[in-house]
Amino acid sequence: MKSIKVGILGLGTVGGGTANVLQRNAAEITRRAGRDIEVIIASVRDLTRERRCDCSSLHLTTDPAEVVNHPDVDIVVELIGGETQAKDLVLQAIDNGKHVVTANKALIALHGNEIFAAAQEEGVSVLFEAAVAGGISIIKSIREGMAGNRIDLVAGIINGTGNFILTEMRDKGRPFAEVLTEAQALGYAEADPTFDVEGIDAAHKLTILASIAFGIPLQFENVYTEGISELSLTDVAYAEELGYRIKHLGIAKADASGVELRVHPTLIPAKRLIANVNGVMNAVMVRGDAVGNTLHYGAGAGAEPTASAVVADIVDVARTITADPHSRVPHLAFQPDALANLPI
Ligand code: NAP
Ligand code: HSE
Repeated sequence: MKSIKVGILGLGTVGGGTANVLQRNAAEITRRAGRDIEVIIASVRDLTRERRCDCSSLHLTTDPAEVVNHPDVDIVVELIGGETQAKDLVLQAIDNGKHVVTANKALIALHGNEIFAAAQEEGVSVLFEAAVAGGISIIKSIREGMAGNRIDLVAGIINGTGNFILTEMRDKGRPFAEVLTEAQALGYAEADPTFDVEGIDAAHKLTILASIAFGIPLQFENVYTEGISELSLTDVAYAEELGYRIKHLGIAKADASGVELRVHPTLIPAKRLIANVNGVMNAVMVRGDAVGNTLHYGAGAGAEPTASAVVADIVDVARTITADPHSRVPHLAFQPDALANLPI
């Protein structure tokens, strides 16, 4: 059977990790996808930069249009980040009939409504598991595992950089700025790290989670957003002394009166499970009326944990690639008339 051909936009932390995982675990991935998956082309900014993957078998270009317009590419994997160029490239890929996988939460939170409409019209898939909580399959868990539930609460630690900073401040008394620099070196932080420390990245992720959990359109502008940049070592130490931990949480609640979306630092009793989620780890609690409380835990950032989610989406697309495109259920399914105007 013909292999599935992949083109990657961006071979940085996540792109490099994705190429590595696809290569290293090729046998398992082929078995699960039912087809060989082959990366044939990738775009970068700087061809001379050292890569974290072996790129010898693929065509490297500085022109991302070559990837989205490549006639043999079945799946375009967008890993350049940002919203403007990423949006243009993703829409171009969809227009060319390519399936899209992305880890870009800003792109989905801000432009997802438009992107999903375009994808539905073209009969292609747009998957974005890696956009929320890195390696945790939280989107698949909500969409698939909890498909029979009425969900009223999604809450948790959804930014690895922020949790890494708060953990190092508490455990080692390290200054905020020093830990942020380390998070950047480890590849956890966004290209603009204010997205991490001011809560914007968490707000992007909460927007996506709320849309999937409650069946409402993406509405980033309605998230109350507060970051951790004002927290001092004294704040963290006092919280500890009083028997609490400061955690940066994203919280989405739905009830008959509407939906509440907020991101902010929170004092949590030190014995609670979520207070003991440390370092780059994320944890997301989802409450459904049938299943009750569920807790999803794992690495929230970093090359291979994130690549794990990207590759899972590639495998998902590969499995369905021969199915009738118009029989596919859209990946963000909401009923705009019923729920769009819920007060927030
Ligand atoms: P990164 O390390 O900065 O990599 C970005 C890659 O895109 C680089 O290879 C860069 O090329 C390329 N690139 C950037 N702008 C480009 C342009 N205009 N044209 C062509 N290539 C361009 O970023 P990352 O950490 O992998 O993040 C990628 C995406 O994944 C972002 O949306 C991020 O939010 C998301 N994400 C990241 C993580 C994480 O842990 N890092 C986790 C989940 C989701 P050069 O290498 O030549 O500079
Ligand atoms: N900068 C993000 C974080 C990457 O630290 O959580 C994962 O989405």
